Amino acid sequence: MIRCKAAVLWKPGAPLAIEEIEVAPPKKKEVRIKIVATGICGTDIKDMDTDVLSQFCPIIMGHEAVGIVESVGEEVSTVRTGDKVIFLCIPQCGECNTCLNSKNNMCAEIRHSAVHLISEDSSRITCKGKLMHQYFALGTLSEYTVINEISVAKVDDAAPLEKVSIIGCGFATGYGAAINSAKVTPGSTCAVFGLGGVGLSVIIGCKAAGAARIIGVDINKDKFAKARTVGATYCVDPRDLEKPIEEFLFDMLNGGADFCFEVTGNTETVATALGSCHKDHGVCVIVGSIGFCSPISISSELFISRRTLKASVLGGWKTKEEIPKLVSDYMAQKFNLDPVITHTLTLSEVNEAVQLMKSGQCIRCVLLP
Ligand code: APR
Ligand code: ZN
Ligand code: ZN
Repeated sequence: MIRCKAAVLWKPGAPLAIEEIEVAPPKKKEVRIKIVATGICGTDIKDMDTDVLSQFCPIIMGHEAVGIVESVGEEVSTVRTGDKVIFLCIPQCGECNTCLNSKNNMCAEIRHSAVHLISEDSSRITCKGKLMHQYFALGTLSEYTVINEISVAKVDDAAPLEKVSIIGCGFATGYGAAINSAKVTPGSTCAVFGLGGVGLSVIIGCKAAGAARIIGVDINKDKFAKARTVGATYCVDPRDLEKPIEEFLFDMLNGGADFCFEVTGNTETVATALGSCHKDHGVCVIVGSIGFCSPISISSELFISRRTLKASVLGGWKTKEEIPKLVSDYMAQKFNLDPVITHTLTLSEVNEAVQLMKSGQCIRCVLLP
């Protein structure tokens, strides 16, 4: 049994409480990990304040992290004690219909994430005698945790862990949306709606794919400087324009952008992003989560020519296989994600990190437990 600290949400809307937890040894096909660095993602922040987690409290938040394997349960074959590893927001079991099909990455075992437990009814973690839920069946805002082997992958031994934690969610989501989902082409034009950590990662992907022009769109102008640093060629606040952003981009990009990305997390911007796509062949990608079961209102007129609207979850990566390759690509300097991390704090400063994110001052904050 390991006793350590974790950030616990006892009820929605409450601040996170740093608590002592007990982490039992891993069982069959489970892995106990010492967390070395963990990011806070827009999804953590959004869910903490709504009722979606009320039936899962108390819960350890966090799902974007890297660490070192402390011990493994029986029948674990893909990681060993001492390995550097990255947490996978979507598992890859390798056996379900989705895993056996090259077209998608939503492994059927993601059902555990929906109940925020590593199996139907249990976790290895307790606090004050209560069973702890783990956000997305991970719960990385903690010093130690136990997760399923299918939710973790070994990375390069030399990986600089404090720099690559955001690859597990925010970076993979944005970068993959450009590379895998949109399949951005060299010389193309792109428009990215929302310049948070995920939006910046979309820009990095568009740039890596050879886009000629990348327009960053946000209602917070403080985000523009960073967006330019990572590759935006022009930034605009739609509220400063005299005409709708769709018309502005239509004129600027000769019929609209070849590729548009909705990365604000709002349903309302989906129609705007789709309407900003090139009228004949534009592709619009909804990146990450825009809430569950939310209706999206889109005029059918937008589809009369040949616009395409698609969605992308975790960048479409087959996680266990491909996320470690992103870590290696970062080490090989195929892209630079350092500008996306604007703050580094400790786990005990987690509520300050949440406030920094909410205030819009921070793109990504990494916590070093
Ligand atoms: N138009 C343009 N930009 C907007 C709008 C809007 N109507 N509304 C919000 N934004 C901007 C915000 O100002 C912010 O810069 O979108 C950005 C969102 O960034 P973050 O909140 O930091 O979120 P991030 O972590 O990047 O994730 C983006 O994708 O996967 C989802 O749940 C995730 O909602 C989150 C979104
Ligand atoms: Zn996330
Ligand atoms: Zn699977």
